[in-house]
Amino acid sequence: MNYKIALIRGDGIGPEVVNEAVGVMEAVGKKFGHTFTFVDVLLGGCATDAVGKSYPDGTAEKCKSCDAVLLGAVGGPKWGSDKPAEQRPETALLAIRKDLGLYANLRPAALRPAMLDACPLKKETAEKGIDLMMVRELTGGIYFGKRDKYQTEDRGIECTDLMAYSEKEIERIGRRAFELARLRRKKVSSVDKANVLETSRLWRSVMHRLAEEYSDVQYEDVLVDNCAMQLVRDPGQFDVVVTENMFGDILSDEASMVTGSIGLLPSASIGDTAPGLYEPIHGSAPDIAGQDKANPIATILSVAMMFRYSFQRAEEANAIEAAVDAVLAEGWRTPDIAESGVKAIGTKEMGRLIREHI
Ligand code: IPM
Ligand code: MG
Repeated sequence: MNYKIALIRGDGIGPEVVNEAVGVMEAVGKKFGHTFTFVDVLLGGCATDAVGKSYPDGTAEKCKSCDAVLLGAVGGPKWGSDKPAEQRPETALLAIRKDLGLYANLRPAALRPAMLDACPLKKETAEKGIDLMMVRELTGGIYFGKRDKYQTEDRGIECTDLMAYSEKEIERIGRRAFELARLRRKKVSSVDKANVLETSRLWRSVMHRLAEEYSDVQYEDVLVDNCAMQLVRDPGQFDVVVTENMFGDILSDEASMVTGSIGLLPSASIGDTAPGLYEPIHGSAPDIAGQDKANPIATILSVAMMFRYSFQRAEEANAIEAAVDAVLAEGWRTPDIAESGVKAIGTKEMGRLIREHI
Protein backbone atom coordinates (compact mmCIF):
# COMPACT_ATOMS: atom_id res chain seq x y z
CA MET A 1 0.00 0.00 0.00
CA ASN A 2 0.98 3.60 -0.49
CA TYR A 3 -0.32 5.85 2.27
CA LYS A 4 -0.53 9.59 1.93
CA ILE A 5 0.22 11.24 5.28
CA ALA A 6 -0.20 14.89 6.21
CA LEU A 7 2.57 15.99 8.57
CA ILE A 8 1.87 18.87 10.93
CA ARG A 9 5.26 19.28 12.55
CA GLY A 10 4.16 22.31 14.55
CA ASP A 11 6.04 24.18 17.26
CA GLY A 12 8.63 23.55 19.98
CA ILE A 13 9.65 19.90 20.08
CA GLY A 14 7.02 19.03 17.44
CA PRO A 15 9.40 18.84 14.44
CA GLU A 16 11.93 16.68 16.33
CA VAL A 17 9.43 14.08 17.50
CA VAL A 18 7.70 13.96 14.11
CA ASN A 19 11.07 13.30 12.45
CA GLU A 20 11.62 10.21 14.58
CA ALA A 21 8.05 9.01 14.03
CA VAL A 22 8.49 9.36 10.27
CA GLY A 23 11.67 7.32 10.52
CA VAL A 24 9.78 4.58 12.34
CA MET A 25 7.00 4.70 9.75
CA GLU A 26 9.55 4.18 7.01
CA ALA A 27 11.07 1.24 8.87
CA VAL A 28 7.60 -0.30 9.16
CA GLY A 29 7.04 0.35 5.46
CA LYS A 30 10.23 -1.48 4.58
CA LYS A 31 9.33 -4.46 6.70
CA PHE A 32 5.69 -4.78 5.67
CA GLY A 33 5.92 -3.50 2.09
CA HIS A 34 4.25 -0.08 2.35
CA THR A 35 5.34 3.24 0.92
CA PHE A 36 4.41 6.73 2.05
CA THR A 37 3.83 10.10 0.47
CA PHE A 38 4.29 12.88 2.99
CA VAL A 39 2.55 16.25 2.66
CA ASP A 40 3.76 19.02 4.95
CA VAL A 41 0.94 21.09 6.44
CA LEU A 42 1.62 24.37 8.20
CA LEU A 43 -0.42 24.86 11.40
CA GLY A 44 0.10 26.44 14.81
CA GLY A 45 2.46 29.16 16.01
CA CYS A 46 4.85 28.47 13.12
CA ALA A 47 1.97 29.22 10.73
CA THR A 48 1.26 32.49 12.54
CA ASP A 49 4.91 33.45 12.10
CA ALA A 50 4.93 32.47 8.44
CA VAL A 51 1.55 33.70 7.19
CA GLY A 52 -0.05 35.65 10.05
CA LYS A 53 -2.59 33.06 11.15
CA SER A 54 -2.36 29.75 12.96
CA TYR A 55 -4.85 28.01 10.68
CA PRO A 56 -3.98 29.00 7.11
CA ASP A 57 -6.67 28.84 4.41
CA GLY A 58 -6.94 25.45 2.79
CA THR A 59 -5.55 23.51 5.76
CA ALA A 60 -8.58 21.24 6.11
CA GLU A 61 -8.72 20.52 2.35
CA LYS A 62 -5.04 19.61 2.32
CA CYS A 63 -5.54 17.20 5.22
CA LYS A 64 -8.69 15.74 3.67
CA SER A 65 -6.69 14.75 0.59
CA CYS A 66 -4.57 12.48 2.80
CA ASP A 67 -5.21 9.08 4.42
CA ALA A 68 -4.18 10.27 7.89
CA VAL A 69 -2.65 13.23 9.70
CA LEU A 70 0.31 13.11 12.08
CA LEU A 71 0.74 16.10 14.37
CA GLY A 72 3.77 16.85 16.59
CA ALA A 73 2.70 19.62 18.95
CA VAL A 74 1.56 23.20 18.63
CA GLY A 75 1.70 26.19 20.95
CA GLY A 76 4.13 28.22 23.01
CA PRO A 77 4.36 31.37 25.12
CA LYS A 78 5.15 33.44 22.04
CA TRP A 79 1.53 33.06 20.86
CA GLY A 80 -0.19 33.46 24.25
CA SER A 81 -3.76 34.28 25.23
CA ASP A 82 -3.05 38.00 24.83
CA LYS A 83 -2.81 37.51 21.05
CA PRO A 84 -5.85 37.70 18.75
CA ALA A 85 -7.68 34.39 18.31
CA GLU A 86 -6.57 33.81 14.72
CA GLN A 87 -2.93 33.91 15.80
CA ARG A 88 -3.26 31.45 18.66
CA PRO A 89 -2.27 27.82 18.03
CA GLU A 90 -5.18 26.50 20.16
CA THR A 91 -7.63 28.11 17.76
CA ALA A 92 -6.12 26.09 14.92
CA LEU A 93 -6.30 22.88 16.91
CA LEU A 94 -10.01 23.32 17.64
CA ALA A 95 -10.69 24.35 14.04
CA ILE A 96 -9.03 21.32 12.50
CA ARG A 97 -10.86 18.96 14.88
CA LYS A 98 -14.18 20.55 13.90
CA ASP A 99 -13.45 20.82 10.16
CA LEU A 100 -12.33 17.19 9.89
CA GLY A 101 -15.28 16.04 12.04
CA LEU A 102 -12.97 14.32 14.54
CA TYR A 103 -15.53 13.80 17.27
CA ALA A 104 -13.87 10.84 18.96
CA ASN A 105 -10.63 11.37 20.82
CA LEU A 106 -9.01 8.15 22.02
CA ARG A 107 -6.43 8.59 24.74
CA PRO A 108 -5.07 5.31 26.03
CA ALA A 109 -3.38 5.48 29.41
CA ALA A 110 -1.44 2.30 29.90
CA LEU A 111 1.36 1.54 32.30
CA ARG A 112 3.99 -0.09 30.10
CA PRO A 113 5.55 -3.17 31.72
CA ALA A 114 9.06 -1.69 31.86
CA MET A 115 7.75 1.51 33.47
CA LEU A 116 6.15 0.13 36.63
CA ASP A 117 8.51 2.19 38.80
CA ALA A 118 7.47 5.43 37.10
CA CYS A 119 3.91 5.12 38.38
CA PRO A 120 3.47 7.68 41.18
CA LEU A 121 0.79 5.58 42.90
CA LYS A 122 1.31 3.00 45.64
CA LYS A 123 3.29 -0.04 44.51
CA GLU A 124 0.40 -2.44 45.10
CA THR A 125 -1.88 -0.21 43.00
CA ALA A 126 0.64 -0.08 40.14
CA GLU A 127 1.16 -3.82 40.24
CA LYS A 128 -2.52 -4.38 39.53
CA GLY A 129 -1.82 -2.78 36.17
CA ILE A 130 -3.31 0.26 34.44
CA ASP A 131 -4.72 -0.09 30.95
CA LEU A 132 -7.58 2.24 30.23
CA MET A 133 -8.86 4.00 27.14
CA MET A 134 -10.24 7.47 27.63
CA VAL A 135 -12.80 8.26 24.93
CA ARG A 136 -13.33 12.00 24.88
CA GLU A 137 -16.04 13.72 22.85
CA LEU A 138 -14.04 16.27 20.86
CA THR A 139 -16.24 18.53 18.73
CA GLY A 140 -19.08 19.54 21.03
CA GLY A 141 -19.91 20.80 24.50
CA ILE A 142 -18.57 23.94 26.09
CA TYR A 143 -15.54 24.05 23.76
CA PHE A 144 -17.76 24.89 20.82
CA GLY A 145 -20.83 26.50 22.42
CA LYS A 146 -21.81 30.12 21.98
CA ARG A 147 -19.67 32.53 23.98
CA ASP A 148 -20.68 35.95 25.16
CA LYS A 149 -19.10 38.87 26.96
CA TYR A 150 -21.11 41.91 27.93
CA GLN A 151 -21.28 44.82 30.33
CA THR A 152 -23.89 44.63 33.09
CA GLU A 153 -25.33 47.56 34.97
CA ASP A 154 -24.25 46.56 38.45
CA ARG A 155 -21.95 43.52 38.26
CA GLY A 156 -19.24 44.69 35.88
CA ILE A 157 -18.45 42.57 32.84
CA GLU A 158 -20.13 39.16 32.59
CA CYS A 159 -19.19 36.22 30.36
CA THR A 160 -20.94 33.01 29.37
CA ASP A 161 -19.84 29.79 27.67
CA LEU A 162 -22.67 27.57 26.53
CA MET A 163 -22.47 23.82 26.98
CA ALA A 164 -24.77 22.08 24.52
CA TYR A 165 -25.11 18.43 23.54
CA SER A 166 -27.57 16.73 21.23
CA GLU A 167 -28.71 13.11 21.36
CA LYS A 168 -27.02 12.52 18.04
CA GLU A 169 -23.65 13.78 19.28
CA ILE A 170 -23.88 11.69 22.43
CA GLU A 171 -24.98 8.56 20.62
CA ARG A 172 -22.14 8.54 18.10
CA ILE A 173 -19.43 8.92 20.75
CA GLY A 174 -21.21 6.37 22.94
CA ARG A 175 -21.21 3.83 20.13
CA ARG A 176 -17.49 4.32 19.63
CA ALA A 177 -16.92 3.59 23.31
CA PHE A 178 -19.03 0.42 23.33
CA GLU A 179 -17.43 -0.84 20.10
CA LEU A 180 -13.96 -0.26 21.55
CA ALA A 181 -14.91 -2.00 24.78
CA ARG A 182 -15.89 -5.08 22.78
CA LEU A 183 -12.30 -5.27 21.52
CA ARG A 184 -10.92 -4.85 25.04
CA ARG A 185 -12.16 -5.95 28.47
CA LYS A 186 -15.82 -5.20 27.74
CA LYS A 187 -16.45 -2.52 30.30
CA VAL A 188 -17.66 1.05 29.74
CA SER A 189 -17.60 3.72 32.45
CA SER A 190 -19.57 6.76 31.38
CA VAL A 191 -18.58 9.94 33.20
CA ASP A 192 -21.00 12.81 33.73
CA LYS A 193 -22.32 15.31 36.25
CA ALA A 194 -25.94 14.23 36.07
CA ASN A 195 -26.62 15.38 39.62
CA VAL A 196 -26.23 18.97 38.39
CA LEU A 197 -26.17 19.39 34.61
CA GLU A 198 -29.03 18.96 32.13
CA THR A 199 -26.56 17.99 29.36
CA SER A 200 -25.31 15.23 31.65
CA ARG A 201 -28.82 13.91 32.28
CA LEU A 202 -29.33 13.64 28.52
CA TRP A 203 -25.87 12.07 28.19
CA ARG A 204 -26.79 9.46 30.78
CA SER A 205 -30.14 8.58 29.22
CA VAL A 206 -28.55 8.06 25.79
CA MET A 207 -25.77 5.93 27.31
CA HIS A 208 -28.35 3.80 29.10
CA ARG A 209 -30.10 3.14 25.81
CA LEU A 210 -26.81 2.04 24.29
CA ALA A 211 -25.96 -0.09 27.32
CA GLU A 212 -29.14 -2.10 26.67
CA GLU A 213 -28.19 -2.55 23.05
CA TYR A 214 -24.63 -3.61 23.95
CA SER A 215 -25.75 -5.93 26.71
CA ASP A 216 -22.55 -8.00 26.42
CA VAL A 217 -20.60 -4.98 27.70
CA GLN A 218 -20.54 -4.16 31.41
CA TYR A 219 -21.71 -0.58 32.02
CA GLU A 220 -21.53 1.94 34.85
CA ASP A 221 -22.26 5.64 35.42
CA VAL A 222 -19.53 7.55 37.27
CA LEU A 223 -19.85 11.14 38.44
CA VAL A 224 -16.93 13.22 37.22
CA ASP A 225 -15.69 14.20 40.67
CA ASN A 226 -15.74 10.58 41.79
CA CYS A 227 -13.93 9.58 38.58
CA ALA A 228 -11.14 12.06 39.32
CA MET A 229 -10.77 10.40 42.70
CA GLN A 230 -10.97 6.81 41.44
CA LEU A 231 -8.26 7.51 38.84
CA VAL A 232 -5.71 8.04 41.59
CA ARG A 233 -7.20 5.54 44.03
CA ASP A 234 -7.58 2.52 41.74
CA PRO A 235 -7.17 3.23 38.00
CA GLY A 236 -6.99 -0.51 37.28
CA GLN A 237 -10.80 -0.68 37.64
CA PHE A 238 -11.29 1.21 34.35
CA ASP A 239 -11.35 -0.20 30.83
CA VAL A 240 -13.10 2.28 28.50
CA VAL A 241 -13.99 5.65 30.02
CA VAL A 242 -16.29 7.80 27.87
CA THR A 243 -17.02 11.43 28.60
CA GLU A 244 -17.81 14.86 27.20
CA ASN A 245 -15.22 17.28 25.86
CA MET A 246 -14.10 19.30 28.89
CA PHE A 247 -14.36 16.50 31.45
CA GLY A 248 -12.27 14.44 29.03
CA ASP A 249 -9.68 17.17 28.67
CA ILE A 250 -9.14 17.26 32.42
CA LEU A 251 -9.44 13.55 33.20
CA SER A 252 -7.15 12.50 30.36
CA ASP A 253 -4.33 14.62 31.78
CA GLU A 254 -4.90 13.02 35.15
CA ALA A 255 -4.99 9.52 33.66
CA SER A 256 -1.76 10.18 31.76
CA MET A 257 0.06 11.25 34.90
CA VAL A 258 -0.78 8.07 36.81
CA THR A 259 1.08 6.08 34.17
CA GLY A 260 4.29 7.93 34.97
CA SER A 261 5.12 9.88 31.88
CA ILE A 262 3.12 12.06 29.61
CA GLY A 263 6.03 11.59 27.17
CA LEU A 264 4.86 8.06 26.42
CA LEU A 265 1.20 8.55 25.61
CA PRO A 266 -0.28 8.74 22.11
CA SER A 267 -3.74 9.76 20.96
CA ALA A 268 -6.06 9.38 18.02
CA SER A 269 -8.84 11.70 16.92
CA ILE A 270 -11.25 10.10 14.53
CA GLY A 271 -14.51 10.83 12.76
CA ASP A 272 -16.70 8.86 10.39
CA THR A 273 -15.14 9.72 7.04
CA ALA A 274 -12.29 12.24 7.16
CA PRO A 275 -8.71 11.12 7.85
CA GLY A 276 -7.88 10.50 11.49
CA LEU A 277 -5.46 12.77 13.30
CA TYR A 278 -2.75 11.23 15.46
CA GLU A 279 -0.68 13.12 17.99
CA PRO A 280 1.20 12.72 21.26
CA ILE A 281 -0.81 14.02 24.19
CA HIS A 282 2.08 16.14 25.45
CA GLY A 283 2.58 19.77 24.44
CA SER A 284 5.29 21.59 22.54
CA ALA A 285 7.70 21.90 25.52
CA PRO A 286 9.45 25.05 24.21
CA ASP A 287 11.93 24.92 27.11
CA ILE A 288 13.67 21.86 25.65
CA ALA A 289 12.98 22.46 21.94
CA GLY A 290 15.86 21.91 19.55
CA GLN A 291 18.07 20.27 22.18
CA ASP A 292 17.61 16.59 21.29
CA LYS A 293 16.01 16.02 24.71
CA ALA A 294 12.38 15.34 23.82
CA ASN A 295 10.87 11.89 24.14
CA PRO A 296 9.68 10.74 20.69
CA ILE A 297 7.86 7.67 22.04
CA ALA A 298 4.39 9.24 22.35
CA THR A 299 4.52 10.31 18.70
CA ILE A 300 5.89 6.93 17.62
CA LEU A 301 3.06 5.20 19.49
CA SER A 302 0.63 7.59 17.76
CA VAL A 303 1.86 6.12 14.48
CA ALA A 304 0.99 2.68 15.87
CA MET A 305 -2.54 3.96 16.54
CA MET A 306 -2.66 5.29 12.97
CA PHE A 307 -1.91 1.82 11.60
CA ARG A 308 -4.48 0.28 13.92
CA TYR A 309 -7.40 2.69 13.55
CA SER A 310 -6.99 4.38 10.15
CA PHE A 311 -5.41 1.56 8.16
CA GLN A 312 -6.76 -1.51 10.04
CA ARG A 313 -3.21 -2.87 10.20
CA ALA A 314 -2.90 -4.42 13.65
CA GLU A 315 0.28 -6.30 12.80
CA GLU A 316 2.17 -3.11 11.98
CA ALA A 317 0.78 -1.43 15.10
CA ASN A 318 1.86 -4.36 17.27
CA ALA A 319 5.36 -4.28 15.74
CA ILE A 320 5.79 -0.63 16.71
CA GLU A 321 4.48 -1.18 20.24
CA ALA A 322 6.69 -4.23 20.72
CA ALA A 323 9.75 -2.29 19.52
CA VAL A 324 9.02 0.50 22.03
CA ASP A 325 8.56 -2.00 24.86
CA ALA A 326 11.79 -3.78 23.92
CA VAL A 327 13.83 -0.58 23.96
CA LEU A 328 12.32 0.42 27.32
CA ALA A 329 12.95 -3.05 28.71
CA GLU A 330 16.62 -2.73 27.74
CA GLY A 331 16.69 0.30 30.03
CA TRP A 332 17.00 3.09 27.46
CA ARG A 333 15.44 6.34 28.70
CA THR A 334 15.08 9.92 27.48
CA PRO A 335 15.59 12.55 30.23
CA ASP A 336 11.86 12.87 31.04
CA ILE A 337 11.62 9.22 32.13
CA ALA A 338 15.16 8.58 33.35
CA GLU A 339 15.53 7.89 37.05
CA SER A 340 18.21 9.95 38.77
CA GLY A 341 21.65 8.47 38.18
CA VAL A 342 20.61 6.80 34.91
CA LYS A 343 22.29 8.19 31.82
CA ALA A 344 19.65 9.42 29.41
CA ILE A 345 19.76 9.26 25.63
CA GLY A 346 18.57 11.86 23.12
CA THR A 347 15.54 12.07 20.85
CA LYS A 348 17.41 10.82 17.78
CA GLU A 349 19.07 7.90 19.55
CA MET A 350 15.71 6.78 20.97
CA GLY A 351 14.22 6.91 17.47
CA ARG A 352 17.15 4.96 16.03
CA LEU A 353 16.90 2.21 18.67
CA ILE A 354 13.19 1.76 18.07
CA ARG A 355 13.73 1.58 14.28
CA GLU A 356 16.39 -1.02 14.84
CA HIS A 357 13.92 -3.22 16.71
CA ILE A 358 11.35 -3.13 13.93
C1 IPM B 1 -5.74 18.89 24.59
C2 IPM B 1 -5.35 20.32 24.84
C3 IPM B 1 -6.28 21.22 24.03
C4 IPM B 1 -7.69 20.96 24.51
C5 IPM B 1 -5.95 22.71 24.11
C6 IPM B 1 -4.52 22.99 23.70
C7 IPM B 1 -6.91 23.54 23.30
O1 IPM B 1 -5.38 20.62 26.20
O2 IPM B 1 -5.67 18.44 23.43
O3 IPM B 1 -6.10 18.22 25.57
O4 IPM B 1 -8.12 21.52 25.52
O5 IPM B 1 -8.37 20.16 23.88
MG1 MG C 1 -5.76 18.95 27.43
